Amino acid sequence: TGYVTLDPGFVNTASCASAVTYIDGDAGILRYRGYPIEELAEKSSFLEVAWLLIHGELPTPEQLASFDEQIRERTLLNEGFRSFFAGFPTSAHPMSVLSAGASALAAYHPDLLDPFDPAQVDEASVQLLAKLPTIAAYAHKSSLGEPLLYPDSSLGYVENFLRMTFGLPTGKYEVDPEVVKILDMLFILHADHEQNCSTSTVRLVGSSNASLFSSVSAGIGALWGPLHGGANQAVLEMLERIHNDGGDVKAFVNKVKNKEDGVKLMGFGHRVYRNYDPRAAVVKKATRKVLDTLGVKDPLLDLAMQLEEVALADDYFVQRKLYPNVDFYTGVIYKALGFPVNSFTALFALGRLPGWIAQWREMINDPATKIGRPRQVYTGSTERHYPAK
Ligand code: CMC
Repeated sequence: TGYVTLDPGFVNTASCASAVTYIDGDAGILRYRGYPIEELAEKSSFLEVAWLLIHGELPTPEQLASFDEQIRERTLLNEGFRSFFAGFPTSAHPMSVLSAGASALAAYHPDLLDPFDPAQVDEASVQLLAKLPTIAAYAHKSSLGEPLLYPDSSLGYVENFLRMTFGLPTGKYEVDPEVVKILDMLFILHADHEQNCSTSTVRLVGSSNASLFSSVSAGIGALWGPLHGGANQAVLEMLERIHNDGGDVKAFVNKVKNKEDGVKLMGFGHRVYRNYDPRAAVVKKATRKVLDTLGVKDPLLDLAMQLEEVALADDYFVQRKLYPNVDFYTGVIYKALGFPVNSFTALFALGRLPGWIAQWREMINDPATKIGRPRQVYTGSTERHYPAK
């Protein structure tokens, strides 16, 4: 009881104190544990960043090697998962399979559900990091009706995922080291973003002392939405639509400005950034390089660049401080790497997993944590009485 303030969307309300990720939205700054995102994207690796986010410091070479080894050893799923995947229709969206898969891990690991046992939490964290890429790759394979490949623990994190996604048992899959490097870098860029919708969901579910698996499963559901991680799929579909309609970028931007049929410029805008999203700047630079390296020509990249140019020069976007966000260019890269459009958001989820884990662990260990239970402002009927019959 007491004084309740109304803040839809938590625009002005901090839900927690956190030492994981720092964002200055006006300056366009993003740091994980103090390290600028640009430096990590250039110099680090995804597993090193995962450790950094989860444990607070960069790992020593020995810590990193042992972390990598632990993950490799756990990439194999219980054989029961084969019938689990077989039960989904081939049209199943990969995010549906991924969320269900994360939840099912709780069923296979009933001994890892206690949030207050640090050894169980460490093991659950490694299990999730190891198994989510296998689940994502299997979701892709099931949708194609192709056989599921077992993980290969001699391969690195991203290589193993790419092989399970694109390889066939009848042929040797040559993993292009350039592709591995690009995807590893994209995973780093997605690894955490403080109290966004999915991370807040993970924390909220965990605040009831639910397991890490259930919390991450709920986070995957939140990420799927087109205003959040689902924007990467929505951007590519938007670019394809504009392209198929003749490529008139100005006409599309006018439609957005006039809010015709609620059309938005997907991949633009952000609750916190009132400046260029620093992740988008790194991705934009990488996109051209990736297409050149892979020898891919994609008219959608030119279309995206034209859209950005027109929007950034337009009063509507200038006044509202709307800039490209991380999802604006990633889809063009994922497409060039051969991923189907509906699997883009699952790639975001694989990247965001260390952040969900780090934030959940911070929440569980914070003595100030209470069950998440927002108040409301009641606007319904005053007391009335059930009619006499
Ligand atoms: N296109 C057109 N207008 C926009 C857009 C957009 N992409 N984004 C915001 N606006 C307008 C909005 O209509 C509002 O205008 P008005 O004041 O006239 O009503 C104004 O800008 C402020 O926007 P808001 O909706 O109050 O901002 P928010 O902080 O509630 O929403 C957002 C943030 C990311 C949901 C929103 O910008 C959006 O829908 N963007 C498109 C979807 C997208 O790209 N999402 C990915 C976000 S980044 C990565 C991630 O989280 O996954």
